[in-house]
This record gives sequence, C-alpha cells and structure tokens, in this order.
Amino acid sequence: MKVGVVGAGLVGATAAYALTLRGSCSALVLVDQDGDRARAEAQDIAHAAPISHGARVSSGDYPALEGSRVVIIAAGANQKPGEGRPELLDRNADIFRQVIPQVAAHAPGAVLLIATNPVDALTDLAVRLAPGHAVMGSGTVLDSARLRWLIAQHAGVDATNVHGYVLGEHGDSEVIAWSGVTVAGLPVADFMAARGLPWKPEIRAGIEAGTRDAAASIIGGKRATYYGIGAALARIAERILGDRRAVLTVSAPTPEYGVSLSLPRVVAAGGIEASVMPLLTGDEKAALERSAAVLRASVERLGL
Ligand code: 2OP
Repeated sequence: MKVGVVGAGLVGATAAYALTLRGSCSALVLVDQDGDRARAEAQDIAHAAPISHGARVSSGDYPALEGSRVVIIAAGANQKPGEGRPELLDRNADIFRQVIPQVAAHAPGAVLLIATNPVDALTDLAVRLAPGHAVMGSGTVLDSARLRWLIAQHAGVDATNVHGYVLGEHGDSEVIAWSGVTVAGLPVADFMAARGLPWKPEIRAGIEAGTRDAAASIIGGKRATYYGIGAALARIAERILGDRRAVLTVSAPTPEYGVSLSLPRVVAAGGIEASVMPLLTGDEKAALERSAAVLRASVERLGL
C-alpha cells in the first residue's frame, strides 16, 4: 500500500501529511526536484507517523516510486493572488513533459492522480504522456466538498448529510448540479422548507459564488490553498488503494465532451470503473457543454 507524491510543495506535502494522519497507506515516498525540500518534508511528516498510523515515510528520486499503487502529481507552479488557473497552463505543461514520463517509467502499474492546475487540461496531457497508466485528476472533488460545506452551513446540519456534485471544469466554468442536491435524502429545497429555512435564488447564488471563488478568496488571504486539496487527494488515493468504489467527481477523459472534466465516477483499484451522468436540467446540460468548450480550448492550446 505504497503512495508516491511528486512535488513536495504545500499541496504535495499536505496530501502526504493527510495520508499519514488518516492511515491511508503503509509507505509514502516524496519526490521533488529540490531533493532537500523533499527530504525535509518527509522527515517532518515521518515524525507524525509513530503517533498516528505508523506509515513508513521517506524521500528519494524517481526510482524510489517503484512499487507505488498511486502516484499523486503535485509538481508545478501555483496561482499568485489575482491569477487564474488557466494562466498556469504553459508553465505546468512544460513541467509535466519532463515529470510524467519519468513517473510512468519508474511506477509501472500505478494510478496517476493529478493535482497540478489547471487540473483538467493537465490530466489530458498526462494521459498522453503515460500510455497504459490509469490517470485521473482531482477535478471537482474539492469543489463538491466546498459546495456541501456551504449548504450544510445554511441548513444547520453536518456536511456529511449533504450530497451534491460540482461538474465540468475545476475552475470558473464549473457547474453545480443543483437539481440533484439532497440533504438527509430530501431535495435541498424541500429540506429547507421542512426546517423553515429560506431558500431563495440569492442564497443559491451566494453558495454558487462561494464554491467557485473559494480558491481566489483563500489565495488572496494566504497565497495558496492546500488543506482542502490535501484532504481531497488523500481521500481519492485511499479509495483507490482500498478498491472502495467510492463515487467521486474526479476528472478524466470523457468521450461525449472530447476532453477531461469532472463527473461522478466510481473509483476502484484500477482507476475509474464507471462514470455516472447525473440527471440534469436543460440549463445544467447547457452549462456543462459550455464548461467542456472552455476546456477544449485549453487542450487545443497544448496541441493535444
Ligand atoms: C483550489 O481550488 C487552487 O485549485 C486550487 O484550491
């Protein structure tokens, strides 16, 4: 149950820390072009192992990935305040062209879990660079968590009782599938009515903006996001390792849309076992088409 993490910056290290605290894997190896950074992060995280679940945490170069069942790719630049995810495309695509073939060569059989932004286009690129590997992007797993949290705040219930999915791009064109959101098994509007809580278009719009703009708000305050995505990556990785068949909105090539985007997908040991197209309204379907068009433009820019 070995996991590799390539890129020991804030996202990669936080994912590694989350994996360690959750007891998701028995061995964890960090790889970074800055070997000293990887060594120091691994050393720091390793000290949490004896007081959590005892994972063997180490660092190394690409050959150390050998035997990994999942490799999380978090290498690359992140957004500066005011910068959007698409602005990272060319820079991070160059990094992927160096990193992914090395990972593919040294971790045959591993599922590649892409975290670097813009995650959808880089998932498409990684698929091309690692033929034969199962590849998925963290996609909108984090956005779906942000949505559920915001609805839970309004509903006054535990966020685990809220179900709902954000589809399409992990970015500004993402689509909230409101028609499928449920709280404690009830459609969200019915739940709010049953509790005597207001549920107006302005409230929905606020939740939508809060979901979409969360990263910009956090980056504005502390220059990076890493706890939310770190937990999302750990959850996806442990679902793969445990062959749990969890339904998660990971990003993957989607033939109907000609690009990688997020839909609810059944995540198993070998990667994505199935995709589940939610029942959408006409407006939601149109919004998903628009999101796919945005992503196709990015992928065309990469010449894929
Ligand atoms: C996030 O949504 C920046 O994509 C990163 O937190």
